[in-house]
Amino acid sequence: MRVYEAQVAGKKGMWYAVPGRGVASMNTYVTGNTIKQLRESRNLTQSELGEKIGVSSKTISKWETSKGLPDISLLQPLAQALGISVIELMQGQHITNQNRSANMRRCKFYVCPVCGNVIHTAGAAVVSCCGVTLPALEAEVPDESHGITVESVEDEHFITVHHPMTKVHFISFLAFVTTDRVQLVKFYPEGNAETRLQLRGMGDLYYYCNRHGLFRRKR
Ligand SMILES: [Fe+2]
Repeated sequence: MRVYEAQVAGKKGMWYAVPGRGVASMNTYVTGNTIKQLRESRNLTQSELGEKIGVSSKTISKWETSKGLPDISLLQPLAQALGISVIELMQGQHITNQNRSANMRRCKFYVCPVCGNVIHTAGAAVVSCCGVTLPALEAEVPDESHGITVESVEDEHFITVHHPMTKVHFISFLAFVTTDRVQLVKFYPEGNAETRLQLRGMGDLYYYCNRHGLFRRKR
């Protein structure tokens, strides 16, 4: 069992996605609607957008009315002209994190249903893994079959999630999140869903069951 404190851990384990920088596999292509909406939201005419990327207004019009698609070599310039990342352009989802200093307690967790990858972001992000766009998980209040106990011994805390740890139904990670820090512990099937952490300050304990989703217990 290893504890990861706000850092990247192995390709197959956990990683942090930085908004606008994530590498993702995609199963969609840019749509005319997306181009049109983004162009209009930036008060650009079809000619102005065309000029920025070296195509005619007629070409932009064709894309917007689904009578053609931009060549893949134009995606980067198009995204740049529209002020978003290529991933956002492809997914048709524009992410704006207004407050760059927002604290970690607003963080989000994503879990890939295919490979089990765990992704943590400090703010909103478009996150894909194994070709699947992942929704941010919504944490629930723990129910009877996902109880957790925290025993304090001096400045350490022994945390146990009371849950089966079989190959098909298990707790895959636990995280303690404060305003400036995330401590993440990975659990494995047939292991124990227990760990020891130094819980400094106010924060929330998150843990994830592969069948029942994310739970949060406030401290
Ligand atoms: Fe469960």
